[in-house]
Amino acid sequence: MIDFTLTPPQEAIRTQAREFADGELVPNAPRIDRQKEFPHANLRKLAALGWLGVLVPRDLGGAGLDNLTLALIGEQINRGCASTGVTWSVHNSLVCSPLIRHGNADQQRRYLPPLARGEILGAYALTEPGSGSDAAAMVSTARRDGDFYVLNGSKAFITTGGNAGLYIVFARTHPDPSLKAKAISAFLVEATYPGCKPGPSDAKMGIRGSSTVTLYLEDCRVPAANRLGEEGKGFHIAMDTLDGGRIGIATQALGIGQAALDAAVAWMRESAGDPAIYESQPNQWRVAEAATELDAARLLVWRAALLRDLKQPHTPQAAMAKLFASTSTNRIVRDALALRGEAAIIGDTPFERFFRDARITELYEGTSEIQKIVIARSLLKP
Ligand code: CAA
Repeated sequence: MIDFTLTPPQEAIRTQAREFADGELVPNAPRIDRQKEFPHANLRKLAALGWLGVLVPRDLGGAGLDNLTLALIGEQINRGCASTGVTWSVHNSLVCSPLIRHGNADQQRRYLPPLARGEILGAYALTEPGSGSDAAAMVSTARRDGDFYVLNGSKAFITTGGNAGLYIVFARTHPDPSLKAKAISAFLVEATYPGCKPGPSDAKMGIRGSSTVTLYLEDCRVPAANRLGEEGKGFHIAMDTLDGGRIGIATQALGIGQAALDAAVAWMRESAGDPAIYESQPNQWRVAEAATELDAARLLVWRAALLRDLKQPHTPQAAMAKLFASTSTNRIVRDALALRGEAAIIGDTPFERFFRDARITELYEGTSEIQKIVIARSLLKP
């Protein structure tokens, strides 16, 4: 049975995260977006709170917390600044988490403490220019050469690329293309390794303070000791990691949606003297529907996070959380824009930023269509 009552420590950290977001993130988010500024300062503050190693065990310098708490913190960070939110989420969910779940003791000792302290940031390199949704169709290679693997290929849409100290890179360790997913292995690639070359940051519609690059691997020699998990098990690691990452992006959608609802409600309250706005039933329906959908999304997020904490299967539940939260939030930000009218897109209102930021939550870490495939397969499997 799953208990949805938060414990006093969970409530306390949620309050702390809310206050941190209001005090430190909300005021800077417009500038970070406008200037496409990588959120170094916010990340330093998150590191000081121990939140760059939320899941990392305490004896390795982390906060030693669970996935539900990660979601509680993540909603608040993303409510404050989605550019900071995705950088933080990739670091915790796509890099620290697979190291915790699949790394050996030596790898954990070498990488988790500096990741938790924020001395290095993490990035996750799965997608390629020719393989997005069909991730197993990747063509990057890792050829064994003595105590090393030699990596070649390019990886696309890499969040935090260029600012990361450590990349988790997936590549084929067997040349037979018919092996598909079974030929893929995972590697811990330090940014300083010769041949690990991030390209310039791509210009983006939203979450513009985060960096997104193509990562080029040119005869990049990676010690065999940096293979994460067994040879040929990389795709399992990639998918298991994305189960957690999708909870993270669902959480991001939740945070953006809540920010849009809060802004819409604040504006309606400010307009209390104008019955056409405050007492308008269509406006009231919009905010009522948004609040209901956000609560439903929140419960899906918490359920998936709890199942992951309980080490129970949660692949379709994570996909449902991401599908529902991102779809709902896109509707909510559209409605918030409609409610505010043309003023929402002129000058310094946050509505158009929420609109631009929300769209990506339906695309990265698996599109909505991929989430539906994952959910349908879980229903249809014999
Ligand atoms: N956990 C562990 N193992 C899993 C798994 C999971 N959740 N899902 C599948 N696997 C295993 C399967 O058991 C299977 O293993 P065996 O062959 O040993 O039985 C193997 O993986 C292959 O599984 P499938 O046959 O289901 O794989 P598929 O090729 O049909 O692909 C897919 C399935 C769901 C479509 C997958 O390709 C997918 O998720 N695509 C989307 C990729 C994606 O989300 N990319 C996001 C990139 S990251 C990003 O956006 C980062 C960023 O920086 C923000």
